[in-house]
Amino acid sequence: MAEVVTNGGVSVNELPFAQDRTRAWRELREAGEVVVSGQEVILTSAAAVELAAKAPETFSSARAFDRLGSPVPMIPIAIDPPDHTRFRRILDPFFGPKRMAEREAELRRQASELIDAIVAKGECDVVSDLATPFPTQVFLTLFGLPLTDRDRLVRWKDAILEFTDPGSVEPTPEVLTHAAELFAYLTEHISNRRSDTSGSDMLTALMTDTDAGAMTDIELLGLCFMFVLAGLDTVTSAVGFALAKLATDTQLQTRVREDFSLIPAFIEDLLRVDGPVPFAPRVTTRDVVVADQLIPKDTTVMMSYGSADRDPRRFQNPDDIDLDSRNVHFAFGRGPHRCLGSHLARLELRIILEEWHSRVGDYAVAPGGSPQVKWPAGTLTLNALPLKVKPA
Ligand code: HEM
Repeated sequence: MAEVVTNGGVSVNELPFAQDRTRAWRELREAGEVVVSGQEVILTSAAAVELAAKAPETFSSARAFDRLGSPVPMIPIAIDPPDHTRFRRILDPFFGPKRMAEREAELRRQASELIDAIVAKGECDVVSDLATPFPTQVFLTLFGLPLTDRDRLVRWKDAILEFTDPGSVEPTPEVLTHAAELFAYLTEHISNRRSDTSGSDMLTALMTDTDAGAMTDIELLGLCFMFVLAGLDTVTSAVGFALAKLATDTQLQTRVREDFSLIPAFIEDLLRVDGPVPFAPRVTTRDVVVADQLIPKDTTVMMSYGSADRDPRRFQNPDDIDLDSRNVHFAFGRGPHRCLGSHLARLELRIILEEWHSRVGDYAVAPGGSPQVKWPAGTLTLNALPLKVKPA
């Protein structure tokens, strides 16, 4: 008989992610495959995470998102199959590689503008000068919204994400104000599109141009909200980790600069070693046994995609980036909720790394700068990445 999982003596919020991610992941994994942290159960191995991510009838994402009490459904993450399947059928074609490639030229132009400004200064904070503005502009561009709204969108998003971070309990009045402003902003634009459907943006297309049935206004609002929360900080994080790795590993920097065809493999294994999303929540709908441990019904389970991605039983030399590995990582998740924006994210990262290495020569972390991630947090993101850069 499986034993009910008991406290593994680990407190995830106290793991040393800020200082040393490799040590933090090792400490978590050593606590066990299924381990209790506070009120939650953490799945740490690749096998356990895979099992839970692919069993949505037992590990419910919808139940996990009830806690946020969002006034609109967070589509599609807060919906379980079978309803979830309808949304993915509508959405997947819009976020596929072909549709994304149609935007490449415009996104490349915007990335090069941001990078040219950095080269002109000779130094930058990658996080605030490039990794934050770029994905925000991408969202505005895809949805046909004015780029001049970029900075207020960043402010709204930051305030709301702070509330969704682990440990926060009640939204502050400031968070509620920012959430209301973001809803009002998105609602107004959705309603404008309803009255004028001549645009070629994604919002208009989602209203009108789908084989699987168009989305309602409230569903579109939920999707836009979800995009802002899931598709901005994740890319910010990955851009930061990518340039931090290359800035400190001059050999790899030279290889990438001399051969852009290595960039996709670098992106994939970077996402494995330093994935932006450390944990994804589910709630159990019944008692379930994982790795000989009984997890009772109604337990909040955190699937650790980050820990799975460093699991030595799945990956050789799990803490190192290997451009030849072809590792199939967990950074975009598994199962029905696998990242909707993975093709977009890959495109954004490839554009940034190509434009960066076309315009920037040698670069290194500025003296005194020792980039750290904020922890605890929902996304692992560098606080700042000060670089000294030379023109190419
Ligand atoms: C490097 C960047 C990104 C990473 C690492 C990432 C990671 C993830 C992960 C791990 C999940 C699964 C969560 C779960 O199992 O609960 C997910 C889901 C999702 N992501 Fe991403 N993401 C990234 C970029 C984006 C972008 C650019 C978008 C914009 C559209 C996006 C939209 C979504 C959505 C809508 C879902 C929910 C899918 C569903 O429930 O069916 N993501 N992402």
